[in-house]
Amino acid sequence: MSETFLSTNAEIAVLRNELEAQGKKLVLTNGVFDLLHVGHVRYLNEAKALGDCLVVAINGDESVRELKGPGRPVHTAEERAEILCGLESVDRVVVFHEKRASRVIEAVDPHIYTKGGDYTPDSLIDEEKQLLDRLGVEIRILSLVPGKSTSATLNQISEEDPDRQKKIAILGSGTGSNCLAILEAIESGKLETEVAVILSDVRDAGILDIARDHNISAIHIDPGTEKGGQLTDAAIKEIMDRLIASKVDLVVLAGFMRIVREPLMSQFPGKILNIHPSILPKYPGLNACRRAIEAGENESGCTIHLVDAGVDTGEILRQEAVPILEGDTPEALQARIQEQEHLAYPEEIAEQLAK
Ligand code: GAR
Repeated sequence: MSETFLSTNAEIAVLRNELEAQGKKLVLTNGVFDLLHVGHVRYLNEAKALGDCLVVAINGDESVRELKGPGRPVHTAEERAEILCGLESVDRVVVFHEKRASRVIEAVDPHIYTKGGDYTPDSLIDEEKQLLDRLGVEIRILSLVPGKSTSATLNQISEEDPDRQKKIAILGSGTGSNCLAILEAIESGKLETEVAVILSDVRDAGILDIARDHNISAIHIDPGTEKGGQLTDAAIKEIMDRLIASKVDLVVLAGFMRIVREPLMSQFPGKILNIHPSILPKYPGLNACRRAIEAGENESGCTIHLVDAGVDTGEILRQEAVPILEGDTPEALQARIQEQEHLAYPEEIAEQLAK
């Protein structure tokens, strides 16, 4: 078996008692420590300088995924431990599997506990604060290096190459005529992007056939509920994982007849578009064409909007009007609206990608 750079809580507890017997101090800190930057290095140097031995407790991989999303950690706990042990300041690394560090604090019973400067002694998580007070541990808040964080590093890397081809994902439940219009706009050079993946909650949806015909990854997501029902947490997670893995810049809903919700939305803030066959805010939701005709409207159309937590309520980006004709049926109106959708959606996607 390869060498482990992780210590157990029991080993650290022994070390702590040995240090105390020598009049020395053990310093404990905790965090993810996934992609080290100079802020981490300076922070750990400062922490070590407070005592004689520095123990870093790192979140286990599963708890990092829960805290930071499915794309993290970049490095496994074993790898993070090995990297940290390469620093002069770090003496031991332990892993903890809960979201909070309480159990490891209790097991190690450090002389000093440090946190980064985005905390104050009062903003420490209650559970941890009470425990530290009960154990009589000295709490030290250390300054952070401004602008240095793992998220900032990751953002910088992902935006680094200005020539990078932007990518989109398309989600739909139906025939996929909008999806086809988008693909044709790409093929004719009117829209510069790559469709990385096409997802559907309907196993035999036409949109998945279109994906296969164009050699694009076609994925059925089991929605976990009947047609029109809420997507289960597992379905939302699978969609989110697929979108993140495909590294898409924009998520395009094209006849996706399910509500998307958190935590998916905050992974793509301002980057999820929907198209709806009415002039919103009129006739959100199902059967928009039929309802517009029944209400005696003489005009309807389509709306492209950003997706928020409501049903067809997000910021409106573009609308195209379509007249309602004498004797119109919902199907005939829908077909004329779709002609406009097929022109408008690729244009709006191009605008959003250019932002
Ligand atoms: C489109 O007309 C779109 O406006 C509508 O579904 C149709 C999908 O057609 N969307 C909604 O009603 C969303 N609330 P398509 O599968 O042929 O692109």
